Amino acid sequence: MLSTRTPDRTSAALSEIMKIPMARPLFDETTRQSILEVLDSGRLAQGLRVLEFEERFAEWAEVPFAIAVSSGTAALLLALMALEIGPGDEVITTPFTFAATANTILFLGARPVFADIQPSTLNLDPEEVERRITPRTRAIVLVHLYGNPCDMGIFTELAARYGLALIEDAAHAPGALYQGRPVGSFGIGCFSFYATKNITTGEGGMITTQDSHLARRLRMLRDHGQSAKYVHEILGLNFRMTELQAVLGIGQLQHIDAWNDRRRTIAAFYDQHLRGARPVAITPNSTPVYHLYTVRLSPGLRDAVRERLKEAGVETGIHYPTPVYRQPLYQRLGYNDSLPVAEAAAREVLSIPIHPALRDDEVRYVVEALNAAIEDLQGG
Ligand SMILES: Cc1ncc(COP(=O)(O)O)c(C=O)c1O
Repeated sequence: MLSTRTPDRTSAALSEIMKIPMARPLFDETTRQSILEVLDSGRLAQGLRVLEFEERFAEWAEVPFAIAVSSGTAALLLALMALEIGPGDEVITTPFTFAATANTILFLGARPVFADIQPSTLNLDPEEVERRITPRTRAIVLVHLYGNPCDMGIFTELAARYGLALIEDAAHAPGALYQGRPVGSFGIGCFSFYATKNITTGEGGMITTQDSHLARRLRMLRDHGQSAKYVHEILGLNFRMTELQAVLGIGQLQHIDAWNDRRRTIAAFYDQHLRGARPVAITPNSTPVYHLYTVRLSPGLRDAVRERLKEAGVETGIHYPTPVYRQPLYQRLGYNDSLPVAEAAAREVLSIPIHPALRDDEVRYVVEALNAAIEDLQGG
């Protein structure tokens, strides 16, 4: 629970010193020591620490196999490569995401096909996905947007019915549960440990799978397709994680459940105390991890509120300002989609700070600043 007692400092005093960022990574003393141990060991490239991180992550994520890679983008790319997706194939995905989700499909010569999102959660709409399935469709890439699980009951049934692979872009969602089961354990899970994510290794990623054959391919693909030293079985490149990243990851994993709890506590406080800003809905029967806390405001108001918050020292984000098909790259490739729910969301969303390093007084300050900005701008 977050206390609602009066702040020690007044809001006016706080605003003079307050700079509330969207993310602030935390590293404990043991982790700092482990970094020094790695430096002293002389072994910096992928080794036993990466293996340990993979084993711990797999256990925590309730999957038999976890493969550490150099980024979330690498995770998505290798998942598609392991399925041998390429020219002539179509992969259905969301336009309301970071470009990596679709770029990796494009990079392999396959065609990203965009389906619209649900107005409530902003996650992919299963009916919109089903309408776009053709004989060329090979896979669906879901994004558990903002840390809120997609409806995995419907998507696993859909993928099975049409014989499609399911890739879960869980960059925002480590620890999120759908009907008590961790995301990333339904299909091929792709996680990101980028600097602002729920756990970070600076840059880094993890792929999770239930399939031992796929796991073996993924391990080869991240290491120049090697099945043994200097035996290049298939075409891969270097997507390995370093030992330094792995010890950061091992350290972060010790805290992730508590940190996700803290994110949920802050979200509950926002849900209760924010006035005039509609939060994005949570999927029924699921436990989100609030990588982002995102509200919707009318387009004119959104940008004015954002400016007010900036003046008050509160950093905000827009996730995402442009549906992927509207990016210059995709326009040049001839994409002319106009998916109404994604278009509206891009104009209306605003993410406010939510992370475990936020103090209670900072959370209250964000609420006060956002409520005041909306009241002021709507009244005036
Ligand atoms: C939804 C989503 N997918 C994929 C990625 C790519 O991850 P990375 O930056 O680790 O390559 C990110 C973020 O950065 C993301 O937000």
